[in-house]
Amino acid sequence: MPPVRKAIIPAAGFGTRFLPIAKAVPKEMLPIVDRPVIDYVVEEAAASGITDILIVISRDKRAIEEFFHSHPSLEAALRSKGKSAELEIVSAPNHRARLHFTWQQEMLGLGDAVLLGRTFAGNDPCAVLLGDTIVTSSDPANPVTAQLCAAFNAQGGSAVALEEVPEDKVSRYGIADASPIGDRTWRVHQWVEKPSRESAPSRMAIASRYVFSPAIFDCLAATPKGLGGEIQLTDAMRLLASREPMFGVQFNGTRHDIGNPAGFIKANLEFALQRPEMADSIRRTIADLSGS
Ligand code: UTP
Repeated sequence: MPPVRKAIIPAAGFGTRFLPIAKAVPKEMLPIVDRPVIDYVVEEAAASGITDILIVISRDKRAIEEFFHSHPSLEAALRSKGKSAELEIVSAPNHRARLHFTWQQEMLGLGDAVLLGRTFAGNDPCAVLLGDTIVTSSDPANPVTAQLCAAFNAQGGSAVALEEVPEDKVSRYGIADASPIGDRTWRVHQWVEKPSRESAPSRMAIASRYVFSPAIFDCLAATPKGLGGEIQLTDAMRLLASREPMFGVQFNGTRHDIGNPAGFIKANLEFALQRPEMADSIRRTIADLSGS
């Protein structure tokens, strides 16, 4: 298998958990402090060795494409005023990886969005990073997608990020039926979508980052509409697991699901507390508000 150089970022969903703002502002464009969510996702992909990224958007999500366009008049104005720090901030998103865009016409689910990347991926392995989720690695030099690429190369099969979730939350996730084979690495026998607490084969949940062999696209094409009338990526992963070896990597780090308002607020607080220029004032505000 060639090294993993391509990634798909699905970002076309309606974002109904984030209405009414999602009606006009894509949830992937909501700011985490001062950068949109999807900018962190693109940054993770590029820092993991990905050179080409296909972002799947839809009609109300043009702001995503605009954000990644260069802005020559703004750049010229900043340059002429000698605002070099701002100029660097404005042009940073444009020199990380080559970006490509495609449109999902009907919101037929995450599986359908990934399938739109079939021609882009061709016969190459391909990473998938959900556009509404930021995953930070406890080792910033080794992002989670990079960990999956390494596992893909070492094990010779698709690798999926896994996160241990509490027993009472397994029914919210796709869960791995898996056996440990090494340091934080699992051989996945099968995936179980939203199992009950009693029937869950483990507490290892699918955590929004994947590296797939090209066989995922045949599996997606063969997957009928499932839950909610959508093509479910987990259903295609079940088919893939019956055809090829699959692996899980339990990552060290934090998953920030920004697709719901509470996750968005929490992520903003966490990221703001990491910014020296505002950390103290945010900490004081939290203390004041919580009466401590
Ligand atoms: P979600 O299932 O969280 O997205 O998909 P959603 O459907 O937008 O959210 P709700 O449930 O209505 O609130 C995870 C990622 O997959 C993308 C989303 O944009 C998000 O980044 N997605 C989802 C698509 O690209 N197309 C789809 O049809 C569905």
